[in-house]
Amino acid sequence: MNEGSDRAVLVTGAGYVGSHTAKALHARGIVPVVFDNLSSGYREAVRWGPFEYGDIRDTAAVISAIEKHSISAVIHFAGLIEVGRSVARPDLFWDVNVIGTLRLLEAVKLTRTPRVVFSSSAAVYGHTDLARISEAAPKHPASPYGDTKLAGERMIEAQCAAYGLTGFALRYFNAAGADTGALIGEAHEPETHLIPLAIAAALDQSRALTVFGDDFATPDGTCLRDYVHVNDLAAAHVAAVLAKRPAGSFEALNLGTGVGHSVREVIAAVQAALGRDISFSRGPRRTGDPPILVADPSLAQQNLGWKAEHSGLDEIVRDAMRWEAAPAYGVGRRPPRATGLAAVAA
Ligand code: UFG
Repeated sequence: MNEGSDRAVLVTGAGYVGSHTAKALHARGIVPVVFDNLSSGYREAVRWGPFEYGDIRDTAAVISAIEKHSISAVIHFAGLIEVGRSVARPDLFWDVNVIGTLRLLEAVKLTRTPRVVFSSSAAVYGHTDLARISEAAPKHPASPYGDTKLAGERMIEAQCAAYGLTGFALRYFNAAGADTGALIGEAHEPETHLIPLAIAAALDQSRALTVFGDDFATPDGTCLRDYVHVNDLAAAHVAAVLAKRPAGSFEALNLGTGVGHSVREVIAAVQAALGRDISFSRGPRRTGDPPILVADPSLAQQNLGWKAEHSGLDEIVRDAMRWEAAPAYGVGRRPPRATGLAAVAA
């Protein structure tokens, strides 16, 4: 990057991984300027730098934020993430995740911002029999959500080559855990992820948990996932912002641990951490759930020197538990704002 150009980074999305990354950037002396239309992000999670209200589909608003803050890199998180909803509303996902990324890239091009780091997902791989998935594995997304993430990656890769940008796509496996001080954490609405739901079921015995299928070809019959601490994900984004790369380069990197944990193991870890039973029942498989989704994370280590350091299941559950016991925001989320484009994504 240019001399002094790593001082301010535009972070689109005041959500789960975006807010933890903003904190990690700030700790490295980089100003995170958070840009969000607050359709699912949280104003309360913006604590480490300026906030700019806007929609990623509004190129002029993105340009204005980039110029106002002399931005030298964009980390693009903003988007829709629920796999199930993407099946029901694919048009919405293509609009926000694909058109949104295209409009954002237009702003990046026009302002000659040299670097883009993209929040991608293991969902780009879809179903696979591989015990550990490397970046070279076939990409056949099993949902419109995965399709839109793959489309975003490809747009960025092509624009890096065409316009001399430096690009990274970071493919998260299962983001989990929370800030150790519980200032920020996971606050999806609705919450569909296993760990917060398991903790909620342990804290409130009236909330039962359903295990989606226990007849998979895995050691205990439940799905294996590669849970990676959100602070480890945040550290990878900082490394991608700071890494020296030639103009025109693009890398897609898996962010995971290489170790899979079953749904039953997660439930046992939450029960042990809280010293409480979780009432759960067996339900049918959830559409689109691959039995095994575990990363081969060696390329991220090789290219970025990144390795998951805080992603033991016990550490993840401990931090998630602190957050779920006393969330700083997101409880009974307010109704979606009926403002302009924000309403479209509601
Ligand atoms: N699960 C349950 N009960 C629940 C919730 C989840 O049994 O109430 C199971 C799921 O079936 C899955 C595992 O717990 O086997 C983990 O499920 P999550 O919903 O926590 O996470 P996913 O693996 O479905 O989702 C992750 C990312 C998505 C990404 C997807 C790709 O969060 O962004 O992997 O498959 F798209």
